[in-house]
Amino acid sequence: METILDTEFDARDLRKAFGRFATGVTVVTAALPDGRRVGITANSFTSVSMSPPLVSWNYRRDAFGLALLMQASHFAVHVLAEDQMHLSPQFASPVPDRFAGVSVSEGLGGVPLIDGCGATFECRLWSTFEAGDHVIIVGEVLRYTHSDAPPLVFHAGSYLQWPRAWHV
Ligand SMILES: Cc1cc2nc3c(=O)[nH]c(=O)nc-3n(C[C@H](O)[C@H](O)[C@H](O)COP(=O)(O)O)c2cc1C
Repeated sequence: METILDTEFDARDLRKAFGRFATGVTVVTAALPDGRRVGITANSFTSVSMSPPLVSWNYRRDAFGLALLMQASHFAVHVLAEDQMHLSPQFASPVPDRFAGVSVSEGLGGVPLIDGCGATFECRLWSTFEAGDHVIIVGEVLRYTHSDAPPLVFHAGSYLQWPRAWHV
């Protein structure tokens, strides 16, 4: 184990340390006023509050899609199931249409809803907070679904197969 106390952290090493925290993987989608759709892979999702029901995720400030997303009043967070692993790189890549081959229906505020996820949270944009090189985006959950599908897990830059579960 290595303890690092410098204020001038090495970015690659700090990212590696942050990546030791295992997460799920989500795809956040929204519909723009002009009808375009945006979708972004994000593992920074977290539940925030029960009353009111709030969730958050963080978007890189210089990301192409941030200004677009800020035009939308609603967004949906899709918790990916294990068998949706291919969607994670698809919604993180500069492909012409990230929704190509993805089956969607229309949610609140016209948000594209992806079928077959572990959970889906349809949100109204609640607030944003600038936080360094990211923006924290908080949504109020207006409607949600969930299933027993095994989750997609992300750890240390790799996707993991769902491990043994211990009940708490
Ligand atoms: C597993 C995974 C998790 C990611 N999590 C985030 C995240 O939480 N926030 C973020 O800004 N980018 C995250 N990214 C990167 C974005 O998906 C990627 O930069 C995407 O291109 C941003 O969309 P844009 O280019 O349309 O703005 C993640 C990528 C992967 C593969």
